[in-house]
Amino acid sequence: MTIINIRALGMTLGDPLFSDLSLTISKSDRIGLVAANGRGKSTLLACLAGELEQTTGDITRARGLRVGHVRQNIPPEALSQTLYDHVLAALPAEQAEYESWRVDVVLDELSVPYDLFHQKLSALSGGWQRTALLAAVWITRPDLLLLDEPTNHLDLHRIALLESWLAGMPKDTPVVITSHDRAFLDASTNRTLFLRPESSQVFQLPYSAARAALAEVDASDERRHANDLNKARQLRRQAAKLKNVGINSGSDLLLTKTKQLADRADKLESAAKPAHREHSAGDIRLVNSGTHAKALITLEDLAVETPDGTMLYRTGQKWINKGDRVVLLGANGTGKTQLVRMIQNALTGGNSPVKSAASLVPAYSDQHLSQLDSERTPLETVTRRFDTGDQRARTVLAGAGINFGMQDTRSGELSGGQKARLAMLMLRLHNPNFYLLDEPTNHLDIDGQEALEAELIRNDVSCLLVSHDRSFLRNVGNRFWQIKGRRLEEVDTPEEFLSAEMKPRS
Ligand SMILES: Nc1ncnc2c1ncn2[C@@H]1O[C@H](COP(=O)(O)OP(=O)(O)OP(=O)(O)O)[C@@H](O)[C@H]1O
Ligand SMILES: [Mg+2]
Repeated sequence: MTIINIRALGMTLGDPLFSDLSLTISKSDRIGLVAANGRGKSTLLACLAGELEQTTGDITRARGLRVGHVRQNIPPEALSQTLYDHVLAALPAEQAEYESWRVDVVLDELSVPYDLFHQKLSALSGGWQRTALLAAVWITRPDLLLLDEPTNHLDLHRIALLESWLAGMPKDTPVVITSHDRAFLDASTNRTLFLRPESSQVFQLPYSAARAALAEVDASDERRHANDLNKARQLRRQAAKLKNVGINSGSDLLLTKTKQLADRADKLESAAKPAHREHSAGDIRLVNSGTHAKALITLEDLAVETPDGTMLYRTGQKWINKGDRVVLLGANGTGKTQLVRMIQNALTGGNSPVKSAASLVPAYSDQHLSQLDSERTPLETVTRRFDTGDQRARTVLAGAGINFGMQDTRSGELSGGQKARLAMLMLRLHNPNFYLLDEPTNHLDIDGQEALEAELIRNDVSCLLVSHDRSFLRNVGNRFWQIKGRRLEEVDTPEEFLSAEMKPRS
């Protein structure tokens, strides 16, 4: 049964994002929405939710349809609420007063431990913040669920839980999911929409199979285009020969035929549609300014605590040497971000059990990219921090995928992936010799993730990083620190941790 009918939908925000998109969403649909960074996925979800007016076309919703939209980013005003209150506030006032038990039910369904219920969202890890957003939408019992990058910030265990939660959801509640996590899309979708400026493509297949089908469609479009151009060339050649014969023999008939052939060639050429060409969402490049120091960072048995002072674990004595790419392993909420933050604070502050080499030039990107001021434009962001002229700043921004049109609008309007790319550019301009990266692949599309991986390795970067992305951390890491209970231990490989994470917990 159709619940949403999309007809000839188009949206232009500066650039045309999508056009002439027609699609019906039925009750059994689990649709993966796929495109590179900044191509309009979140915009399309906002249109489906009725929060944003499309430029052209229309969306017809079944009468009384409740659309639940889990956004890509947590709204800043939610951070001061407790997890419980945030979910409760999603209920209509009367229900909130008499049926608050619904909050307990939904939090239980999403496996949220009781001790987190009354903590402020600002004090919770990114993974739990995302779970709170999902709970606040799910409690409204939507008829259609829109999930914008739901796996960002989730650890592997919670990704597995989300997969099984989605699998167990009522089959007549359709879901539209944007994600750059291929394994998650394969497990959770049965249709795939590849969003494109022209001719978006839909397949009745999960991501990987759809990707192969899309490659065939593109290849056959490419062949058809080449064929059409070839035919047009042949027609022109014949027309040229016929013209000579016609002139020599003075035949009007042949000259008319010549014109007909040339007209057919014109028509073919103007109708020949080039195949879709995917262009990059921007370069990701890193630099390593180098240093002669061997030990870059020394941790003198640091005690890692939550912001309210609860002890989590001690680090023991640990060093990060030049060329080390240390991956910090631990489940959501065990204190990875906390350690990264403490090191960051120590590097900018005074006395601390964190020692650093005198020549250290650190660059830090936090999980929520809060180093970017959303009120400033990308151009201001670059020129205020670095002594580059406007012209140079514009060139590097364009290279990073922030095109001229977007350079003078608030950074807050950039898509999630564009913000992540701007954050990486800011790190590079800092010319560091050490990177502290907390979940740097969140929001990056697949090309972006691979580019970041390649840059870290190619430049022999020294870094401490947190990531839940299996292939990324396996490829990039050459040392692994695992939070085991109240201690931080060095382990040889991440494999034991990864397989334990994927297993259901009792
Ligand atoms: N209010 C706005 N005004 C102008 N441009 C906007 C606005 N909101 C979004 N954009 C632009 O529209 C484009 C699409 O943004 P959108 O957030 O939909 O992308 P996305 O496909 O979800 O990307 P990502 O994978 O990075 O999340 C981006 O170039 C973005 O900068
Ligand atoms: Mg988005």
